[in-house]
Amino acid sequence: MAELLLSVVAEGIIGTLGSLAAKEIGLLWGVKDEVESLMSTVSTIKAVLLDAEEKHAAGNHAVKDWLGKLEDAMYDADDLLDEVSTEALQREIMTRDKKAKKSRVATGKMSRRQDRAETLVEAAVGVLNTADPFEKARLGDSVASQWLQGTITQPYDPSRDLPVPDRPARLSNIKLVSPSLMPKLGKAGSLQSRQAIVHSLVHIESWAIDLSWDIIARFGKQAAMPRDFFTDFVKVAQDEGRHFTLLAERLEGLGSFYGALPAHDGLWDSATATSTDLLARLAVEHCVHEARGLDVLPTTISRFRNGGDNETAELLERVIYPEEITHCAAGVKWFKYLCLGAENPAWNPGSLASPGGAGESEKTLEENEVIQKFHSIVRTYFRGPLKPPFNEEARKAAGFGPQWYEPLAVKEVNPRVTTIF
Ligand SMILES: [Fe+2]
Ligand SMILES: [Fe+2]
Repeated sequence: MAELLLSVVAEGIIGTLGSLAAKEIGLLWGVKDEVESLMSTVSTIKAVLLDAEEKHAAGNHAVKDWLGKLEDAMYDADDLLDEVSTEALQREIMTRDKKAKKSRVATGKMSRRQDRAETLVEAAVGVLNTADPFEKARLGDSVASQWLQGTITQPYDPSRDLPVPDRPARLSNIKLVSPSLMPKLGKAGSLQSRQAIVHSLVHIESWAIDLSWDIIARFGKQAAMPRDFFTDFVKVAQDEGRHFTLLAERLEGLGSFYGALPAHDGLWDSATATSTDLLARLAVEHCVHEARGLDVLPTTISRFRNGGDNETAELLERVIYPEEITHCAAGVKWFKYLCLGAENPAWNPGSLASPGGAGESEKTLEENEVIQKFHSIVRTYFRGPLKPPFNEEARKAAGFGPQWYEPLAVKEVNPRVTTIF
């Protein structure tokens, strides 16, 4: 039987060599001739082994001894080829990634012309129509700087309605699967798990960029929102672009790249469901999903730290976590504004109180009305209960207390809950 097993190993070696030759890895390393010669030798050995099987079966002890020695050599060769094959795969991934980066640079050079837009909404539509996520982040950062520095001054052209895409442009190289079919991410205890978690975060950030520009482009003019609304979501969009870029770089540092694993688009499903209602968009995407990110981030950070990956833990803790609180705060602030301040130009968005000396009981009444509206909208547009435990401290810093979200939670686990970071 040993020789039969060896002939199977030989078959495997031939397959590996053939695959290396087909990928021109041998050519790349200048050893193509050696790879082909080894294939020929192993092929001969395989033929001899099959022949030896018959002789051994007939009781030839010399052949049995020879097979024993050959066995060690074959397994050594097999181990070596496994290592070469793994190295080849890693080189292949790096080469693909380098090509993608080259194409990004070319796209970036071409689209520098797109950086100049007349209004913020026009620029936001330009970002939404940019497919490459790295270029999307770069263009978004440029537009945000132009708005914040006053180079772009007009939020929108009152006489012009620009078409906002139903679904932002995306590259097709990200394999999409249903949320329920996503592979398990693990707990950051292995490199594979850390890559999977960071990959999912990169994908979420890519959608977070689009969601921020979409709320500006889709609702800014339609709801005649004040200038501060545009500025708040421009800052969120700029943060999300930075989060995407930093996490994608970190993913490469972990030996992977964006697109190496499947992803799901649950976040855009809820954007589509709220595409005609700004209150619903603010509540579901910017209060429910963003706040869910705040709930899970501390555990994720601890897991990376326990897994020995302090670099990712520091990035999440020092850069992403504090900025996510401000994103949630923007959602809560403008939800309150639409409920209480849209009809009242003197309303202060930083407080629930109406101007003109509203007393405590009036403030409580107003807050209760806003919270009731929030519950009603979340129950209409968000399927299933919210999932505890909640990060009360971070949610409080974002401007909403337990009375906003606890009545929306039940004890069962809700697998449909998605997160924005
Ligand atoms: Fe983010
Ligand atoms: Fe965010």
